[in-house]
Amino acid sequence: MFYVIGLGLCDEKDISIRGLEAVKGASRVYLEAYTSILMISQERLEAFYEKPIIVADRDMVETQSDEILKDADKEDVALLVVGDPFGATTHTDIVLRARALGIPTRVIHNASIMNAVGACGLQLYNFGQTVSLVFFTETWKPDSYYDRVKENVKLGMHTLVLLDIKVKEQSEENLARGRKIYEPPRYMSIPTAVSQLLETEASRQEGILEPETTLAIALSRVGGDSSQQKIVAGTLKELLNQPVEVYGEPLHSLVIVGKRVHHLEIEYAEDYAVDKASWRRVAKDMYKCTEL
Ligand SMILES: C[S@@+](CC[C@H](N)C(=O)[O-])C[C@H]1O[C@@H](n2cnc3c(N)ncnc32)[C@H](O)[C@@H]1O
Repeated sequence: MFYVIGLGLCDEKDISIRGLEAVKGASRVYLEAYTSILMISQERLEAFYEKPIIVADRDMVETQSDEILKDADKEDVALLVVGDPFGATTHTDIVLRARALGIPTRVIHNASIMNAVGACGLQLYNFGQTVSLVFFTETWKPDSYYDRVKENVKLGMHTLVLLDIKVKEQSEENLARGRKIYEPPRYMSIPTAVSQLLETEASRQEGILEPETTLAIALSRVGGDSSQQKIVAGTLKELLNQPVEVYGEPLHSLVIVGKRVHHLEIEYAEDYAVDKASWRRVAKDMYKCTEL
């Protein structure tokens, strides 16, 4: 059996009992370590499972999946995924490849940022399409995400923005020279994300993301304890101007508040506002939350 097991969002104790039983019974255990990160080390995970873990990078999961799937028709193999297995598209691919090889598969679910984002007080039912924001470079500033945000904004829906993670990336020079030397990991911060959103708005000029009248909520390390999980709400401009430490350690996500927001969602999130009066004022004037 090929198991794909969600680990949840925080540490070794977030795995389900069903997931832990599958790990204990597996002859090989892989950890997918490029679409998300756990807040603890690999060693702590290995000590908890009492067995070694093979860290699987993008190359291994996407192009050498045969190695992971080897003999999974005769013995149990587990692929661990931070969050929920279907919180990233990569894992659908590997399940499809297992199926094509006639290997029985089983997915064991867990909490994902896709549902834990509800921690900010916005109702999951009111979210539209999720978008991913990649690091801009001098010459590459992909902005197709803006069209998805625009569609959500037109329907009044909230948008979950997932922020780029760069692990095991090679510099252009090392890539050109075929040197397997990797850059240190990089995780997009909230100020970088907001400044990229505003840069796209400045070039598209469609009035979708306004610095002073678009409300947003930043979330960091959701699922962590109170010293780790951070939620900060404000206008895009307010979030941009906060010192980076306010957002704590990665991973970070951002929610753009939709215009059909309910006043109870605004009241719940007000607790996290950089400036409560401004949060309320913008919600009343620009989001027509007249019950506030
Ligand atoms: C490609 S998604 C993978 C999601 C994961 N499989 C899941 O189900 O949660 C990774 C992105 O989700 C967001 N993310 C994941 N875990 C998070 C957390 N605990 N707190 C805040 N954002 C998180 C970050 O924006 C991160 O770059």
